[in-house]
Amino acid sequence: MEGFRAYRVREAGKLGGLERASRAELDHGNVVVRTAYAGVNYKDALTASGRPGMARKFPLVCGTDLSGVVESSEDPRFGPGDEVLIHSFGLGAEHDGGFAELGRFPAQWIFPLPGGLSLVEAAALGVAGHSVGVALELLEKNGLRPESGKVLVNGASGGVGSIAIDVLSKLGYHVVALTGKAERAGYLRDLGAAEVLERSSVSLGGRPLEEQLWAAAFDSVGSGQLEWLLRSARRDGLIASIGNAGGNEFAGNVLPFILRGVRLIGVNVNNPRATKLRVWQRLASDWKPRHFERFVRRIRLDELPRAIDALMAGTAWGRHVVDLGKG
Ligand SMILES: NC(=O)c1ccc[n+]([C@@H]2O[C@H](COP(=O)([O-])OP(=O)(O)OC[C@H]3O[C@@H](n4cnc5c(N)ncnc54)[C@H](OP(=O)(O)O)[C@@H]3O)[C@@H](O)[C@H]2O)c1
Repeated sequence: MEGFRAYRVREAGKLGGLERASRAELDHGNVVVRTAYAGVNYKDALTASGRPGMARKFPLVCGTDLSGVVESSEDPRFGPGDEVLIHSFGLGAEHDGGFAELGRFPAQWIFPLPGGLSLVEAAALGVAGHSVGVALELLEKNGLRPESGKVLVNGASGGVGSIAIDVLSKLGYHVVALTGKAERAGYLRDLGAAEVLERSSVSLGGRPLEEQLWAAAFDSVGSGQLEWLLRSARRDGLIASIGNAGGNEFAGNVLPFILRGVRLIGVNVNNPRATKLRVWQRLASDWKPRHFERFVRRIRLDELPRAIDALMAGTAWGRHVVDLGKG
């Protein structure tokens, strides 16, 4: 493969686009990987749309995660034909990412594909699935069990939300999906949600403490909704803050913490390699979702701009996965 197709941004404030790139333009690293699949994350939509501050170099191949096959390696840990997955480490921000048929990466960023996951499943999980695994591990370390009570998933129809519902319901949790998309209620139930709450039907209220509802929450939205989750958590409730699809800012009061012992737990995927490996092994085994075929939306590289628009508009659902072998 001489030239290869890539979705790149060239300037802050400007939408990216599909281009033909050359091998001479491959980013730094010692392993060349032929991309098989790449997940499309909310963050990638921001970067691809030219949101200032997201891309840290130009031109930049967008895409935070990918799975693929090693083409050549200068590192003894990898050889041609190895199936691998790569995510985080500044991919799609400081280093060229997954939205290209070919990429070069430092070997220490690369994980062998865990047994139990196919290439498409690994990219379908990607950084979204990994963040669900990190959150689950943190909440279980803090005592969460299926018998603790209801677990709310906010931003339910998105990538993180869909995977969280699938995994939690598989483990026996009673999952309540909170969504802005009434029309996706059937989809959310099929993934395993026991209840679906429409965002428009929920009064975020203004009382310092609301009725105690949730043993835990997986929140990928942030903003005033995170504050409401804190106020409506049960005694010793655990709220995992995973994302900011609804905004960064939230106001609040300390009563949930000091009167109910509620714990707000930050989730970040940039953990030591051993932690990442442990989480991937669980995602490939007991935490492996049951319903990939329901939440994965395979697209071609030339369909990426449409997916990016939908993610930015908040109308996307499930997890878009670019099939680099297609079209
Ligand atoms: N902490 C980490 O390490 C980590 C890792 C991965 C992702 N994240 C973050 O997690 C969040 C979700 O990522 P994702 O890839 O799952 O995104 P996504 O597929 O776009 O899902 C986000 C979902 O949030 C809901 N939402 C509510 N208000 C929204 C708004 N104003 N605009 C857009 N969506 C809105 C929508 O679901 P409903 O309509 O069903 O509510 C939407 O589908 C992002 O903020 C991302 O940066 C963090």
